[in-house]
This record gives sequence, C-alpha cells and structure tokens, in this order.
Amino acid sequence: MTLELQCVPTSEIIPLRHLVLRPNQPLSACFYPGDEDSNTVHIAGKIGDQLVSIASWYLESHPQISESSPWRLRGMATHPEFLKRGYGRDVFYFGIETLKEQHGHFLWFNARVSAAEFYQKLGCQALSTGTFNIPGIGPHILMGRKI
Ligand SMILES: CC(C)(COP(=O)(O)OP(=O)(O)OC[C@H]1O[C@@H](n2cnc3c(N)ncnc32)[C@H](O)[C@@H]1OP(=O)(O)O)[C@@H](O)C(=O)NCCC(=O)NCCS
Repeated sequence: MTLELQCVPTSEIIPLRHLVLRPNQPLSACFYPGDEDSNTVHIAGKIGDQLVSIASWYLESHPQISESSPWRLRGMATHPEFLKRGYGRDVFYFGIETLKEQHGHFLWFNARVSAAEFYQKLGCQALSTGTFNIPGIGPHILMGRKI
C-alpha cells in the first residue's frame, strides 16, 4: 500500500507524538503551543488506517533567525515499526510543499542531535555551532533551510 499524505487536525497526530516523542510523559505534554492556531499545519502520513509518520509546522519567530515570518517544524516522528522506509522524508517534503503554497520562505527547528543527519539529508543545515539540552529529551541543535 502506498503512503497517503494529508493535513489533519491536532487530535489525529497526538497518539504518535506521545508514542515516539514523549513516551514517559503525560499526554498533556504532547500538546504544543500553537497547535490550534489557524495557520498551523499538521501533516500525517498514513498506510491505510495506520498513522506512520507525522510533522507539525508553526508560523513562529526565533531570536537567532532574522528572516521575516519564518516557520518552525516540531513533532517530526515516524512510528517505530515503519522507520527507514522514506516515510519521514515524504512527510517532510509534503510539509515543505504545503508551506510554499502559504508563501513560506524559511524553516527552523530544534533538532535532536540523534536526528541531525536525517535532516541534513533533507537539505537542512546547522544554524549554530553549539548544542543545548532539553531536560528529559536530550541534546538539540538549531537547524533550518530555505523552503
Ligand atoms: C528521525 C525520524 C523522524 C526519521 O524517520 P524515518 O521515517 O525513519 O526517516 P526516512 O526513512 O524518511 O529517512 C530518510 C533518510 O534519512 C536516514 N535517516 C533516518 N533517520 C536517521 C537518523 N536518526 N540518523 C541518520 N540518518 C537517518 C534514512 O536512512 C534515509 O537515508 P537515505 O535517503 O540515505 O536512505 C525517526 O527516526 C524518528 O521518529 N525518530 C525518533 C523521533 C525523533 O528523533 N524525531 C525528530 C525530533 S527533532
């Protein structure tokens, strides 16, 4: 079966966010600021009824990003049983195309260091030299790319 990509409401992506990104935290920790903003985009990749990969995109500034109206990527996750099949990449590029339609021109995100190479393969690069720790999650690095 082929991967179906679509924009979905927050409620649809929360279970996979919880499973992959916040497994040891309460469900309430899986709701991010801006999830319900009208311009926020939640992308889901599904195989039939199975949710296999997700990502969310927010119109959000960052003190180290000078581009106007940048977009932020959060909650990029692929179901553990569906890793390394290209689904994360497909969700990412579907998000990029969706943001292009909204005239987005720059994307930033706090990448887990463990996922930095994945993002590099998607045309992203480090925007700072140092890493920083997010308690309970681990080391991160600021990354981004043109949309
Ligand atoms: C990072 C993550 C979303 C990648 O999802 P995925 O669906 O397995 O990724 P893809 O299969 O689309 O991978 C695309 C390419 O990146 C590579 N890749 C995937 N994850 C990687 C990783 N952690 N490190 C290095 N390379 C990675 C793949 O091998 C593939 O390379 P190729 O094009 O040379 O074959 C997934 O590993 C995940 O959910 N990790 C846990 C949560 C997480 O860290 N999310 C990111 C938060 S910032």
